[in-house]
Amino acid sequence: MPSNNTPPLQIDQVHKTYRQGNSTVHALDGVNLTVQPGEFVAIMGASGSGKSTLLHAMAGLIQVDAGQVSIAGQDLSKLNDAALTKFRRKNLGIVFQAYNLIPALTAEENIRLPANETADLDDRVEHLLERLEMNERRSHRPMALSGGEQQRIAIARALVCDPAILLADEPTGSLDSATGTSICRLLRNLVDEERRSIVVVTHEPHVAMWADRVVVMKDGTDLTEFKTDGIRDPQTVASRYQQSLGAEAVH
Ligand SMILES: Nc1ncnc2c1ncn2[C@@H]1O[C@H](COP(=O)(O)OP(=O)(O)OP(=O)(O)O)[C@@H](O)[C@H]1O
Ligand SMILES: [Mg+2]
Repeated sequence: MPSNNTPPLQIDQVHKTYRQGNSTVHALDGVNLTVQPGEFVAIMGASGSGKSTLLHAMAGLIQVDAGQVSIAGQDLSKLNDAALTKFRRKNLGIVFQAYNLIPALTAEENIRLPANETADLDDRVEHLLERLEMNERRSHRPMALSGGEQQRIAIARALVCDPAILLADEPTGSLDSATGTSICRLLRNLVDEERRSIVVVTHEPHVAMWADRVVVMKDGTDLTEFKTDGIRDPQTVASRYQQSLGAEAVH
């Protein structure tokens, strides 16, 4: 974990355009966002508002057309492909809705996959298996794990290199609500107990309510944001979200 106070994530005026035939889509149209160390941010917005594109830009998975994405103070555009791959592995943890585990590997092998064999790797893997309550399932292959267990392993894999930030795109989207809540509680605990920094993209107020702050996107821009104040009430988050959109003409 970064011990200093450099923001784990800083995004300045990021633009990304996709061309489809004759038309262009401004998937990101001047987005700004700073995430502080130990902060949990949720990004909400309608389908097509640019949430996943933003997450991919944060993760260095796509190149932006203009603006700057910095992770732990490093401007991603300054890195060549090889350096970016290395940097991403060390500094970015990414979790998707589809857990993307390697079917032929055990849970523990999946966790170890991104890490170099360093002296402290065994300790870190033990800590993560313990922390995510997956110790007894460590030898299982993904097919023998429930969805929630697979997502825990995906989170452990994302954390094994001790990244500056953990990015998650709809991490509970494939889970029933009780399992989704247990994943959200786990993410919250990682922030509260280990001062991890987390960004979660979600449609769902009962996921966003676990964050410290909710950023609302619309048409590729960060429309507004609000603090959750730790209330953890989905209705409050839903109505604040609707209010944010209502302030603009909703189409
Ligand atoms: N690779 C691509 N090529 C062309 N257009 C794209 C591409 N990726 C995204 N877009 C377009 O950019 C816009 C934003 O898409 P994005 O996937 O970021 O939305 P989203 O907010 O994540 O939506 P959802 O909630 O449905 O996941 C959409 O209009 C989408 O069609
Ligand atoms: Mg998306």
